[in-house]
Amino acid sequence: MTQPNAVTDMITERLAPFPRPHFLSSGDLNAQTARDLLDLADGFVELNRSSTKTLDLMRGRTVMNLFFENSTRTSASFEIAARRLGADVVTMSPRTSSVAKGETLIDTAVTLNAMKPDILVVRHGASGAADLLSQKVGCAVVNAGDGRHEHPTQALLDMLSLRRAFGDVTSLTVAICGDVAHSRVARSNVALLSMMGARVRLIGPPTLVPGDADRWGCEVFHDMREGLKGCDVVMMLRLQLERMEGALVPSTREYFRFWGLDREKLSWANPGAKVMHPGPMNRGVEIDSDVADDLTVSLIQDQVEMGVAARMAVLAALSARLDGDAR
Ligand code: NCD
Repeated sequence: MTQPNAVTDMITERLAPFPRPHFLSSGDLNAQTARDLLDLADGFVELNRSSTKTLDLMRGRTVMNLFFENSTRTSASFEIAARRLGADVVTMSPRTSSVAKGETLIDTAVTLNAMKPDILVVRHGASGAADLLSQKVGCAVVNAGDGRHEHPTQALLDMLSLRRAFGDVTSLTVAICGDVAHSRVARSNVALLSMMGARVRLIGPPTLVPGDADRWGCEVFHDMREGLKGCDVVMMLRLQLERMEGALVPSTREYFRFWGLDREKLSWANPGAKVMHPGPMNRGVEIDSDVADDLTVSLIQDQVEMGVAARMAVLAALSARLDGDAR
């Protein structure tokens, strides 16, 4: 195992300022800056696997997590990431804040901004919320999911998981399957995967794949067998019932029959194909437990682990940029 000091030195060497003042979408990166962040994140994976997990790269900095939508893994992993970097962290959710009393998004953000956080991590149900906030506050903003628009740190952690599993991502064909229409994970992943040179396919029923999806630079399939043929990665999406108006799927049982990933459907992809899911999973709806829990094919637990490292890389790089601005 690498010595703790060697890990710290490696992280310090790789740490460069974030390329933009905020991280709102995958488009804030390019192939090179994404690779730099992934290299840095690899260092944090090593750190997180060692017994001494904390650094003081962000000592004195304050990170505020503002989650207007439910979240388990994203909010916990941002919180752990910030703490491991030595920052002070406040995590707020609407039920415990004044938003429950009717304060608007902007009022809340402006109020919190007056307390001088350095980084505001925000999740909100409205597409564009993080971008709007970034124009109203004086700190760096990280988009932790805005409506069905983007979730760029998810795309980064998915890329980190893929790069560690396959090495080269440029030769990969990745299928993103299911409820693409309501998925910010899909949008951020399509952008980052394409930027890094992977081929992307979207597979799902016509009601759940946006009509203009062929203009995203992906191939679109409405049949799992056809779409999965030749794929190296099968990324399943949660059926996002909370974002649907009206019935877009007949029943969850029928959905599973046609679109749920089980052993048989996975066998239509390339031998050795890996399975991903951002979580939370609807078991027996978009994915069968038998596949999700099989560590020889599933990267789902890796994705959770990589989430902390990828977010540490983003927070550390944003903080390095703030250090540069202060000079
Ligand atoms: C995703 C999200 O919130 O967009 N989950 C996550 O961040 N782990 C996907 C989802 O909710 O289905």
